[in-house]
Amino acid sequence: MTPAKTEDQATSLDDNSALPTPLLELRGVGAAYGDTVVLRDFNLVVPARSVVTLLGPNGAGKTTVMRLVSGTLKPVAGNIFLNGTDVTSSAAHARTAKGVCLIPEGRGIFRSLSVRENLELFRPSTSRDISIDAVLEVFPVLAERLGQIAGTLSGGEQQMLALSRAFFAKPAIVLVDEVSIGLAPKIVDQIFEILRRLASEGVSLLIVEQYVRRALDLADTVYLLNRGEIVLQGSTKDVAYEDVADAYLR
Ligand SMILES: Nc1ncnc2c1ncn2[C@@H]1O[C@H](COP(=O)(O)OP(=O)(O)O)[C@@H](O)[C@H]1O
Ligand SMILES: [Mg+2]
Repeated sequence: MTPAKTEDQATSLDDNSALPTPLLELRGVGAAYGDTVVLRDFNLVVPARSVVTLLGPNGAGKTTVMRLVSGTLKPVAGNIFLNGTDVTSSAAHARTAKGVCLIPEGRGIFRSLSVRENLELFRPSTSRDISIDAVLEVFPVLAERLGQIAGTLSGGEQQMLALSRAFFAKPAIVLVDEVSIGLAPKIVDQIFEILRRLASEGVSLLIVEQYVRRALDLADTVYLLNRGEIVLQGSTKDVAYEDVADAYLR
């Protein structure tokens, strides 16, 4: 009797009303630079409190997705939803206010300013309660270099400085675009520890990463993009490293 009843209940939920609203959803999104179309009918979902990795070869369109989500590039088609609200036409600063934090490709720090000045600029006016000292506990390497000009930091230190932005903002989602590029494996491990810490605090992550194994290890869901199209997607429990590597070579 009980199983039959459960089945009835399940089939009655055909309007998807039982599914939780995703934190981020891109639905049928198109992107172009001038006449060059780089994404067509692109769909992606980041559930709340989850880690999604977007992988793919150079030029696939990964950074373009980050720009669309952060609001620095407007889609030519489709819609972007944050917590179920359509934010397609809202500006980048409005999305920041809604909890979107971009750690951009190429670091996004103020190279000619000191570490302390960078930290002060990263600290949003809405988070005056989050002290620089509290953030420095996560990044002890920066605490020793507060007066140093950011452009003279090592690559790893610059990336730590870039990541510190995510700890000020108390974001709902952090977009992480190739943060480990060009860094020594030991530093990459430290960066992944920091990403893991953010995830364990309930922050959702959308990660673009060249270290496929590390990304699969951290993420719940993987999307593989090639020439603007998703060629593979699924739970990282079901997708093997070899599947991803194969698709890169196609
Ligand atoms: N600002 C831009 N102007 C023109 N074309 C661009 C611009 N940014 C990226 N593209 C092109 O869009 C495609 C996707 O780029 P991108 O999203 O940066 O890929 P990925 O991050 O996966 O390497 C590439 O063909 C790239 O040359
Ligand atoms: Mg890129």
